[in-house]
Amino acid sequence: MITKVVPGVLIAAPDAPQASREACVRIAKALRDAIRDRGVATLALSGGSSPVETYRALAAEALDWSKIHVFWVDERAVPPDSDRSNYGLVKRALLDAANVPEANVHRMVGEAEDLDAAARDYDAALREHVQEKVGGLPSIDVMVLGVGDDGHTASLFPGDPTVHVTDKLVAAVAATVGREARLTLTTPMIENARTAVILVLGRSKHAALENIWAVHGDVSRVPGRVIRGVRGAISWVIDRAAGGMGG
Ligand code: 6PG
Repeated sequence: MITKVVPGVLIAAPDAPQASREACVRIAKALRDAIRDRGVATLALSGGSSPVETYRALAAEALDWSKIHVFWVDERAVPPDSDRSNYGLVKRALLDAANVPEANVHRMVGEAEDLDAAARDYDAALREHVQEKVGGLPSIDVMVLGVGDDGHTASLFPGDPTVHVTDKLVAAVAATVGREARLTLTTPMIENARTAVILVLGRSKHAALENIWAVHGDVSRVPGRVIRGVRGAISWVIDRAAGGMGG
């Protein structure tokens, strides 16, 4: 009986540094392909600790950042200079080092008093700045996603109804005990990516990966399963530990 199917390509690197490098190579290639084919590229980035080395490596790639527009997959309800800001993380690891033109940086306003309004504004920004449309909705060229120990991706959390939102591209996610409110791309926006690179590092992620790759499962309990619905190319870049192979 088949119990697991990896939707897409699986790259299992020996360790986190090599996985970070692999993710960088794939992201850079997809960006170059988009620029070659359409003259511009769009990139949406997640936060968390896993992608930091990948973003640093990306800053060292020979890429024409004047042709790349940078968006965020999600943001925490904190000011941009907070240690918890996903914008701040990307700025420190990539934007500053690569000299990405400010006009190409489209951050989610996590510090907004009205997060629903901030979500609507970001929805409008995506529709305006992402020229490539599929099914009438913006299609990001390269989306970098992560997976939490609890099976979340982006800021779509187990038990939170946001994973079922289909009538907008961006949603505000209510705070819970121990977690600040968030802004996140919604399922239709994630599914519409042309390329998704999912970087998953560390032993603590193994069970979540198994639950995402399981043939049967409940997206409410394991929101990372939305990644299975991505219509573009999916690359899972993991280290041996996340794959349950020790390490
Ligand atoms: C965030 C994220 C989130 C992240 C996962 C994995 O803002 O927290 O965008 O979805 O990708 O939580 O995070 P780690 O890499 O820190 O485990």
